[in-house]
This record gives sequence, C-alpha cells and structure tokens, in this order.
Amino acid sequence: MQAATGDKGAIGAAQSGGAHQIMQDFLADDADDLVKTWLGGRADVVMSDMAAAASGHKQTDHIRIMALCEAAAHFAFDVLEEGGTFVAKVLAGGAEGDLQKLLKQNFTKVANVKPAASRADSSEKFVVATGFRGSVDNES
Ligand SMILES: C[S@@+](CC[C@H](N)C(=O)[O-])C[C@H]1O[C@@H](n2cnc3c(N)ncnc32)[C@H](O)[C@@H]1O
Repeated sequence: MQAATGDKGAIGAAQSGGAHQIMQDFLADDADDLVKTWLGGRADVVMSDMAAAASGHKQTDHIRIMALCEAAAHFAFDVLEEGGTFVAKVLAGGAEGDLQKLLKQNFTKVANVKPAASRADSSEKFVVATGFRGSVDNES
C-alpha cells in the first residue's frame, strides 16, 4: 500500500521502520508531483491531519482548518489511484458542507466518523471518502 502523509515543519525526508516520512509544505504547487515521484506512482490513501496554529478565535480556526482540508482534498485528486481513499480531520460547522459536496462528487462513498478517542466536547470528526472516481489525467 502506498500512502502520502507529511508535515511542513521541515523540508526533507526520513526513513523510520517501514515508513518513509516526507517533510513538505502540501500547499506548494509541486507537492503532488513530488509525492508521485517519491512513491513511484499514485497513492492508495491520502490522510490529512493538517491544522493551522490555533488563533483562539473559533470561527477563524474553523475557516483555516477547512481551507487546509480542501487543499488536502485537491492534493488527493492529483495523487490518488482510482478507487483510493481520502481521510481528513475536519471541524463541524460553516465551511464543512462545501468539502462534503466536493468529496461526494469525486468519491463513491463519503462517511463521517467520530472515534471514541476524540473528545465529545470537540467539534472535530473525520471524513472518510472511499472509491476515488479518478482524475481526468489519471495515466501519470
Ligand atoms: C494537529 S498537527 C498534526 C500532528 C500529527 N498528526 C502528529 O501526530 O504529529 C497539525 C500539523 O499540520 C501541519 N501543517 C499545517 N499546514 C501544513 C502544510 N501546508 N503542509 C504540511 N503540513 C502542514 C503542521 O505543521 C502540524 O504539524
């Protein structure tokens, strides 16, 4: 299985156990091509836990995290194999509906999951989109 994950804290790569970690800004224009080169093909899963540093202002934090989720979804559209899976942590609220709509257009199934490990008073949940329909240029 090939999976893409990462952090922008530092740019670089590291090998740990069976995992290959890549430190990369996923908003960079060439992030999708870099990941496909590193994987030697497309990913089976894209999982995002990206979040901006908390400002303490609830609405601002919601908008920022949802913007990162949408960017992660577009990254997934560029990187995923047809039939692939996208998982992202989202915050329930205003901008969430747009992401759900986008994912429903591109995946056969979209589920929202609140695991037991997630605090009940937190608005976080996980969106799990399976069965990627494939991008128009899915040959590369
Ligand atoms: C909630 S933390 C995730 C922690 C991580 N799952 C872990 O267990 O270490 C959010 C992370 O998103 C990363 N992040 C925010 N914007 C990013 C971007 N544009 N590209 C890559 N990582 C980003 C931050 O650097 C931060 O480490």
